[in-house]
Amino acid sequence: MATLLHIDSSINGENSFSRKVTATYAEEWRKANPDGTYIYRDLGADPIPHMTALAYGAQNTDPAEHDPEQAKAWELTGTIHAEVDAADVILLGAPMYNFSIPSTLKAWLDRIASQKYAAGPDGRSALSDKKLIVATARGGSYAPGTPRESFEHQEPYLRSFFTFLGLTDDVHFLHTEMTLSHVVPALEQFKHIFEATSEQAHGRARELAGAVG
Ligand SMILES: Cc1cc2nc3c(=O)[nH]c(=O)nc-3n(C[C@H](O)[C@H](O)[C@H](O)COP(=O)(O)O)c2cc1C
Repeated sequence: MATLLHIDSSINGENSFSRKVTATYAEEWRKANPDGTYIYRDLGADPIPHMTALAYGAQNTDPAEHDPEQAKAWELTGTIHAEVDAADVILLGAPMYNFSIPSTLKAWLDRIASQKYAAGPDGRSALSDKKLIVATARGGSYAPGTPRESFEHQEPYLRSFFTFLGLTDDVHFLHTEMTLSHVVPALEQFKHIFEATSEQAHGRARELAGAVG
């Protein structure tokens, strides 16, 4: 039975464009996998605490060897690892915040960056057979050839992170750009970019969820 782990991180609730794309994927995936298991985590509404030395030590130590303090610090990380272990598909909603990802999503990444998942010399890990879908939303545009192309530290960062964890084979980025063209008058002229990228992201989400046709 397939499992989808869906994680959103936008602070914008129902006005979020990244959430709209992850919702499209999740809805279509659930139609295509009626007996599948669906796990949802909302880092925007319910952030996880930042990493501590104790939690970091605990996640890089065999749980059988935890002292009582480490065992307590491990509880949340253990739940996050169980969700990741169960997932066949990891679906991330990742707004662009200051040219990168929200700190809430970074806090989640810090929990899974452990020896348990680190890729071996062959580049493989326990995560290698999973599918990763990342729906981003950006106020501007960072597409190849645009003036801000080199400011794009979202997809390159996430690709590096998941390569470190051995997840490289089945990775897809769906970008919705120029989301601020609705609210910033100077960007109104770029609404067509928002419309085109939004349509493309939702279409690709449906396709990847196996619901096209
Ligand atoms: C804290 C913060 C930082 C942001 N930084 C950027 C940025 O660096 N570049 C950009 O194009 N848009 C930036 N934006 C705009 C968001 O990327 C844009 O509103 C996007 O649609 C957010 O994703 P969401 O619609 O899923 O909430 C920022 C927004 C916030 C709240």
